[in-house]
Amino acid sequence: MRDKQCGLVKDEDIGKTLTLSGWVFRRRDHGGLIFADLRDVTGIVQVVFSPEISTEAHGKAGDLKQEYVIRVTGKVKKRPEGTENPGMATGMLEVLVDSLDVLNTCKPLPFQLDEEETNESLRLKYRYLDMRRPEMQKIFTTRSRVYKVTRDYFESNGFFEFETPFFTKNTPEGARDFVVPSRLNPGMFYALPQSPQLFKQILMIAGFDKYFQIARCFRDEDLRADRQPEFTQIDVEMSFVDVDDVIAVGEGLIKHIYKAVTDEDIQTPFMRMTYENAMETYGTDKPDLRFDLPMVELTDIFKEAGFGVFKKTVETGGVIKSIVLRNKTLSRKDLDTAVDVAKELGAGGLIWIRKEKGTLQSPIVKYLSDDEKMAMDKTLGLSDGDVTFIMADKRDRANENMGKFRLYLGKRFELIRKNEFKFLWVVDFPLLEYSEEEKRYVARHHPFTSPQGNIKNFSGDYLSIKAKAYDLVLNGVEIGGGSIRIFRMDNQLEMFRLLNIKEEEANEKFGFLLEALEMGAPPHGGIAFGFDRILMMLLKLDSIRDVIPFPKTQKGTCLLTGAPSRIAQKQLNELKIRTTVEPT
Ligand code: AMO
Repeated sequence: MRDKQCGLVKDEDIGKTLTLSGWVFRRRDHGGLIFADLRDVTGIVQVVFSPEISTEAHGKAGDLKQEYVIRVTGKVKKRPEGTENPGMATGMLEVLVDSLDVLNTCKPLPFQLDEEETNESLRLKYRYLDMRRPEMQKIFTTRSRVYKVTRDYFESNGFFEFETPFFTKNTPEGARDFVVPSRLNPGMFYALPQSPQLFKQILMIAGFDKYFQIARCFRDEDLRADRQPEFTQIDVEMSFVDVDDVIAVGEGLIKHIYKAVTDEDIQTPFMRMTYENAMETYGTDKPDLRFDLPMVELTDIFKEAGFGVFKKTVETGGVIKSIVLRNKTLSRKDLDTAVDVAKELGAGGLIWIRKEKGTLQSPIVKYLSDDEKMAMDKTLGLSDGDVTFIMADKRDRANENMGKFRLYLGKRFELIRKNEFKFLWVVDFPLLEYSEEEKRYVARHHPFTSPQGNIKNFSGDYLSIKAKAYDLVLNGVEIGGGSIRIFRMDNQLEMFRLLNIKEEEANEKFGFLLEALEMGAPPHGGIAFGFDRILMMLLKLDSIRDVIPFPKTQKGTCLLTGAPSRIAQKQLNELKIRTTVEPT
């Protein structure tokens, strides 16, 4: 139905007669001449209807509307001087149409395709129209390319691609499972995989050495801009490796993808930071390093403070953390707003101290001794125009709230260097965390993550045991995470003992893996990257919904298809399922 795709018409076609097909993107009627931008996935080419070339085609063109599907045949020519559009790949040419076929019409559009549409519900309902927009076509053609270059990378590094089941058992990722009832086994359910974690470990035990999969994962958790209930991972597992080997393969992959898509050479190795350092300096395990504003601890300086809040905090084991916003003379209103924002973010309060004409100014300076003021000034290296923000709280809360406040300052004062890609490995995560709810230790990553050293020999605070776990962070977004696994049963049992998981429970949940660990399991470890998140970052978008062809809303619904929906009583009967609520 065509000789070429629209965006691929080139200078060398000048003088040729071509048949082209596509959608009418825009149409301009200039009295005698009618111009249309003919669009397909490769781009746009201008077609011109002139009564002097064909009165019939020109007559029909008068009725063309947006998004009509047409086929034209005509001669490619250079555009008249002064009418070229160098911003367009085909901007030097146009096609003078001899004949026009209208292949299909289009009803009036619910939104314009050549303008930004802010009503996301409308975009999701008419996703096929939304996806026709050139920006969206670029996103999804890029997505397609990233699949390909990902496969190339692993193929050339000796990895094997596998598919693992969707109908499976609970996996250890720690979110809620989506479940699927089994008709053949009434009352029983499959769980959709939160990740292929256990299968990839099994594949290492099966001897495949290096595995990868572009895998769909399913997690029933609260949704955010960077979280979808079904999302895609680039999942990797390798045998006979330690942390540095997995990190090197991960860096190679990211470098390869960025080069293929942006033609940029990303510098490797990426920076590494311990979890502890990230928390203490940036208040988060995924710091955005496109701006500075590190936290500095002032607990020692203010431990004897006359200022009640500081004194009480330190006496009760808390800390005093500060951030300096340099060389931004803030008004009283700015400072009051900052205090309100900090409180909204969850902080008990926020203290500010401004340096002006060599002296520190703040409602609290009168409570500080000269020694304290001098020590603070020296530690923070303050100059005129600097504002120090201080929070006093329990260590975890101070770090977390100051971390959020740091992000606010970064955005509010436009400190974020938007064009930078700041990759960071966060390493040495704690192996365990304490769950107040369950009154026991739980694995921070998952229970198969290897500790650093042997926990049998460990005496002391279990929370200080470090894991061989690592996350890859880009500009404040976690784009990957993984660990070296426990590969011996004695160590795995030790871990279950720490987690207070009884052997029976472990067998019920992961019995097949435990059995396999006793059948010559090699040392192994891996990582999974968030494919959608990588694309979102690569294309500088704010939401992963923009890089997923058919995403769900915040409430987990699909506006295109109307899922989830009721199912027929007959289907429920077959599954032997009775619901206890009427869907609303
Ligand atoms: P983890 O749970 O850290 O690790 O997931 C790996 C990466 O997947 C992405 N991701 C998500 N992306 C979009 N929506 C979500 N709901 C979502 N949840 C996670 C993130 C994250 O870094 N099996 C382990 C990996 C391993 O140990 O090898 C795992 O799944 O970018």
